[in-house]
Parts: sequence; structure tokens; C-alpha cells
Amino acid sequence: MGGSGVQSLMSAHGVAIPAGFAGPLSVEASTFAAMCERAEVDPDAYWRAVGQRLEWIEPFSRVSDCSYDLNDFRIRWYDDGVLNVAANCLDRHLATHGDKTALIFVKDDPSLKPEFITYRELHARVCRLSEALRALGVGKGDRVMIYLPMTPDAAVAMLACARIGAVHSVVFGGFSATSLAGRIQDCGAKLLITADGGMRGGKWIDLWANVQSALQQAGCECVRDVIVAHNSGQSSVPAVRNATVHNWRTLCDAYEPNSIAEPMNAEDPLFILYTSGSTGKPKGVLHTSGGYLAYASFTHELVFDLRADDIYWCTADVGWITGHSYVVYGPLANGASSVIFEGVPNYPDFARVWQIIDQLGVTIFYTAPTAIRALMRDGDAPLQRSTRSSLRLLGTVGEPINPAAWQWYFAAVGGARCPIVDTWWQTETGGILMSPLPAVDAAKPGAAMHGLPGIYPLLLDNEQRPVSGVGSGNLVLRQSWPGQMRTVFGDHARFLQTYFSAFPGYYQTGDGAHRDADGHYWITGRVDDVINVSGHRIGTAEVESALVAHPSVAEAAVVGMAHDLKGQAIAAFVLLKQDQVESPALRQALIQQVRSEIGPLATPEKLVIANGLPKTRSGKIMRRILRKIAEHAPAEQTEAELIASLGDISTLADTSVVAELIAKSR
Ligand code: WT7
Repeated sequence: MGGSGVQSLMSAHGVAIPAGFAGPLSVEASTFAAMCERAEVDPDAYWRAVGQRLEWIEPFSRVSDCSYDLNDFRIRWYDDGVLNVAANCLDRHLATHGDKTALIFVKDDPSLKPEFITYRELHARVCRLSEALRALGVGKGDRVMIYLPMTPDAAVAMLACARIGAVHSVVFGGFSATSLAGRIQDCGAKLLITADGGMRGGKWIDLWANVQSALQQAGCECVRDVIVAHNSGQSSVPAVRNATVHNWRTLCDAYEPNSIAEPMNAEDPLFILYTSGSTGKPKGVLHTSGGYLAYASFTHELVFDLRADDIYWCTADVGWITGHSYVVYGPLANGASSVIFEGVPNYPDFARVWQIIDQLGVTIFYTAPTAIRALMRDGDAPLQRSTRSSLRLLGTVGEPINPAAWQWYFAAVGGARCPIVDTWWQTETGGILMSPLPAVDAAKPGAAMHGLPGIYPLLLDNEQRPVSGVGSGNLVLRQSWPGQMRTVFGDHARFLQTYFSAFPGYYQTGDGAHRDADGHYWITGRVDDVINVSGHRIGTAEVESALVAHPSVAEAAVVGMAHDLKGQAIAAFVLLKQDQVESPALRQALIQQVRSEIGPLATPEKLVIANGLPKTRSGKIMRRILRKIAEHAPAEQTEAELIASLGDISTLADTSVVAELIAKSR
């Protein structure tokens, strides 16, 4: 194992990382140091090499042109290069490994055999659909909405858009009709690619009802055509308003399995992905073609130490950025074999994940701490029905991982053989920015460690002063990287305001972090009003506006509370209108309101109907107090003890509300 003697295999936390990990592609400690130095000394050469991973129709000459100065703001990478993202993920591989498996589709029903889709077959499916899209009048720059279950169709749909230069926007299948409609309206989608539904955990999930309801809403008339995958086996679906419905399979059968890949400028948009922020509606995070793909593919190889014969499984749904970068784009650009799993980890039981690993010989497994905690809770018995001997590397993403879950992942799941990469990044960053590297770092359970070469994290205090040495602060980045988002679709001012205004000259992540004595970073979580529920971002403002949209509600305040399995869960405090009375039915209706406005993932864990909220004299809700009450009221603490633990509440306009909230939260 290069550059790392036995000592460095032992972490400060007493976890031994096995030797003999480094392989032909592995970045060893000496290489890593050299990469960091090159990125620092000659960033142009370093990032040029990253860009050159891709196949360009017209090579770029300029590497980057970036400035975070608000008077002269720009982020451009490889901006005179021309390429096609789908051609990089498909066509490029055909000559040398067209018969290699691109996707392995593991169906929800464990009795069904996995489907192995080669690069050649995937190319054919993508070409047919891209020709169908062209025939329906979709072209460069047009927006296409994708609302699909976790099947290969989702990857095919994304790549078909990329092939013709259309900008896709995937909406997670767990989002409601209202959320789907809001995103359609925001980006003015011309066409929707969807399914009648899909199987998940043994249950049929109906998508079509949501599609019908979304397309009925004002502002969704922009959608002219709907392409539907008939997963139910039914040959038709009920009509929708204003749009023509096409059956995916019969539509595509009419087209040849080859189509021209549209030449795209590196800075042409590739996709929009909506994500929650601390204020207002979800933002349409826009990623472009060249920089995004180069960065996703580069980090996928670097962080996961990718090798030619890996069977790689990232459990994320394509509705999230992790699914975009590390199920579809990164792995396919690298010619890897990527698993797409339709189901859920606990169906038919908690052994499912481990059995899939054995069955397919999965070598790299990448999942979220929330899934690890859920699997861990079921104990080691399900693990004993598998060997997991194929695994060589484990990854985690989405939220801080608690040491107990890390230890279990390492020892019980990985048999103390497999390093863990704790990858920190965001929808906005396009790819992983911070992570330990298996052959470089000793393990520190819970630490994202350091920036990848060329990525420069630092900590600033609330007065914008750098925090040096050991300390905590706002995590910001000093320089751009190719995978960085370029704008908020349709609202560039919001982009600048959200990410570049509070700390001039830096990209503001919205996360807090701690730096230890070795200079390593530990992500402590969001510093804004964003809740991380099971690794999914939900803005408090969104849940609040869903609640106040209910006719009985006067005001609502939403906070995140610590939760054993989910990391954080949603707690909602609601004030009713004067003439309304609290009842169990009304509580249910309010919870249902959130589920139908946003989706089941935003379901409040706790909902308290109260007569007052803790506000300052200027009317600002003190969320800090609500968070404490939500977390601690159920515990064995007296009211006096809990009030004492709330800290200074003298700024409250009316301190009596606190006692009521505590009583009602128990
Ligand atoms: C937020 C981004 C991009 C991956 C999926 C989530 C949190 C992400 C980690 C990690 C601690 C993490 C941060 C970040 N986060 N990875 N390894 N350790 N926290 O993407 O929905 O855009 O959320 O997830 O708070 O800001 P996202």
C-alpha cells in the first residue's frame, strides 16, 4: 500500500484500515500530494487534464474563466470546447467494450432475475428515444421533465435528452403532484417522460394520478406531450388535459437504434435539478455539459478507486444529484457497470441489500447513513445470510455519519476489510468535493477529511474572518471547480444572493464544519433553515408555506429535530385561526396537507397545535427554542429543567408560550 506505513493505517480512533488496498488505478499518498501540488502550482494544467478525460468534438483551448467577484461574476469551464454528454457515456465505449454491462437492473421483486444491459443495448435504447423526442419537436435548450421510478428508463430518458441537447429536470417519484407542477411551471417543460407507476417494496406506486393532477394545474399547459412507460402491463392510461400521451415502447419501436449526438458547447445546460433552500420555493440548480461531466467522471474514478472489473452500486434514486452524478453520468462516462435497484433495503426483509451484493458480486457500495442506521437496527442476523466477500470499498453520503453507524458499516458490513469514503458534497457542487481517499488517509469515523486536489475549503466566522487552526465556522470554498452549478434557472440574482453574497469572494455552502488538530474537516450540518431528513434536503419555509396554505392555519413554524434513524426529522408548530378548534382529524388533515403539497418525505414527525409561538419583540420566531422543545420535551426532564436548558429567553415577547409548548410537545 503506497506511501502509508502501518502507523498511518491506524486512525486516531483506533480503527485499522487494512493494507493491500491500493490497486493499479489507486491514488497513493505520494500521488495525492503530487496532485495537490500540481493543482496549486499550475491549476490550468491540472484541470486541463481533467477536461481531457472526455471525448471532445472540438477540443477546448481555454480551461477556465471564473470570478466570484459580484461586479465581474462568471463561472466558465472549457468554454470553447464542443462535446456531447451522451456520446461520452455511450458511443465512446462501443468500439472497445460495447458488450460490457453498463447497467444492472435489480427489480423490486426478488424472484425476478436482474437485467444486464450492455453499453450497446443502452446506446440503442437512448438513440430510439432521442429520435422520438426530436420527432415531437424537442430540441436544443428545450426543457424535458422526467418523473419515473428507479428503473433503467430513468437513465435512458436522461441520456436521450442529453443526446439532443434538451435540458432534463428529474423529479423524484416520491414528490407530490403539486411539487411536480411547481417544477414544470418553473422551467416551462415542453414534454414529460413518466410511467404509469412502479413497484417499490412490494407495493404498486401510482405515478399517473399525480401526472394527471399536475397537468391540470394552471401554468402546466407548456407540456405538449407525455411519454409514458407502461410498467403496470396495462396498455393504456387515462387521458391528461392539454397534452398528447404516447406509449414509450410503441413510440420508440418506430425509430432506428442510432441517432446523431447534438454537438453542444461545454457551457450549454445539461440539466436542472430542484433543491430546497432556506427561503422560498425550491431552486432550479443548473449544471452545464463539459465541466459537470468531466468532474463527475473524474471524482467517480478518484474517490471510488474505480477499476475496469468493478461492479459498482450506488443506492441513490436518480431523482437526487447522487443518482445523476454517481449512478448515471460519472459511472457511464467511465465505462463502469452501475447497479440500478428498483426496491427498498428492507423488502422483502433486511437481508435484501446484502443478498444483492453477493448475487452480483458488488465491489463498491455507496449509500447514505440513514440507510446504514436502518439496516443496523435490524442487527447482524440478516448479514449472516450473506458473505459480502466481493466488497472492497464502502462509501457514504448525504449527512454526517455517527461513529456507531460508521463502526458497524466498517466492521460488520465490510468485515473490517473495506475502507470507507465519507463523501461530502451538494446538489450545487455537481460532484464530491471532500472525502478521505482509501489509499491516502487513515480512517476517522465521521470526518469528511479534506478537499480533493484543487478544492480549497476553509472556515469563516460570522464576521467573515478566517478561522485558523482548530476551530469551527462556516464552510466556504475559495475557488471554482468544473462541476459547480452555474445559476439558478430563471433567477441568476437569487444564485448570486444565496451563494456569493454573505462571504464576498467565496462560495458559501450553507454547512458548518469543524477542523481538528490534523487540519481535517468534520461537517457539523446545515447552518441555515434547511432540514436534512434521511439525507434529503427540506426547507423549513416550504413546509411552513404548505401548512399555512391550509384554511384552518394562521401561522406555522417548522424546525428540524434530531432523530435516531433519519438524522433529522420535521417538527411543526401550528397556530390555528381564531374560529378553529384542535381535533385529531384536523391534525391528520394538516399532516396530509404537507404530504400532498410536497410529498411523503416531508411528513412532520411531530405536529404541535399551540396558542402562541416563541417570538422576539420584533416578531422573529426563535427557532432555536422550538428545536430544543421538540427534541427534549419528551425526555425525562421537568418543565423547569427544560426551560433552564433553553438558555437566554429574555428576548421573548411573551415567555408564557414556552410552558404551553413544552406541555403540548410531551
Ligand atoms: C447537504 C447537501 C450531494 C449528496 C446528497 C445530498 C449534507 C452531504 C455529507 C457528508 C455530512 C453531508 C450537507 C450538504 N451532506 N454529504 N458526507 N457529511 N453532511 O445532496 O441534497 O444537495 O444536500 O447534505 O449538509 O450541504 P443535497
